[in-house]
Amino acid sequence: MTKQFLETHKDNYDFIIANGENASGGFGLTKKHFKQIISAGVDVVTLGNHSWDQRETLELVEESSKLIRPINYPRTSPGLGFGNFMTRSGDYITVIQAQGRIFMEPLDCPFSAIDSVLESIPDAQAIVVDFHAEATSEKKVMGYHLKSRVSAVLGTHTHVQTADEMIMGSTAYITDVGMTGVQESSIGMRFAEVHKRFVNKIPARYKPADEAATLCAVEMRIEQGKAKTINRIQWRDEP
Ligand SMILES: [Fe+2]
Repeated sequence: MTKQFLETHKDNYDFIIANGENASGGFGLTKKHFKQIISAGVDVVTLGNHSWDQRETLELVEESSKLIRPINYPRTSPGLGFGNFMTRSGDYITVIQAQGRIFMEPLDCPFSAIDSVLESIPDAQAIVVDFHAEATSEKKVMGYHLKSRVSAVLGTHTHVQTADEMIMGSTAYITDVGMTGVQESSIGMRFAEVHKRFVNKIPARYKPADEAATLCAVEMRIEQGKAKTINRIQWRDEP
């Protein structure tokens, strides 16, 4: 779905970021799928709480600077939590990922981890933060914390696109970008097994839903590091 979308839309964008932590059947990101996403035209891929579901990602994140894991992971974790890149028009852009702590595993403070990175980045540079978190309140507060200090705070992880996109000061914000996958599903997984687990309390192996997918994304216009617009996208490859 990402490939189809980018075949026709890639040239509209200066820089493309994708969250890939569920790209391999819902659990992590294999080398093969990472390569497919990059060859489709994505510039940087972020991870999240499923970063290490595929053991090969531990190597991959060291091999490629285009793959970023949450910055507030332990210092001994492989890979980096942010990267500096150049857009197609020759502007600098920094991509940072942090993971939330509410209803998620304990990690270092995402707020202070991002603050430390920002101290090392020049003004007027585009800075996009992927905040991978469960709780809406934590995500909204991250938007407030980084208001007019970064170009965008984009929530990921909950898979359902929220309709609260806004410009806060000079920062584009959305609580969740949403997933690229089958929307009529339990956040990408087939209903049958998940339903069994909820209703009967019997463990079942989840399987990815395989009906027609929808790509969810946001597009933004950023000038001199300041966000001017943010628009939600929901795209299906059919008439
Ligand atoms: Fe996640």
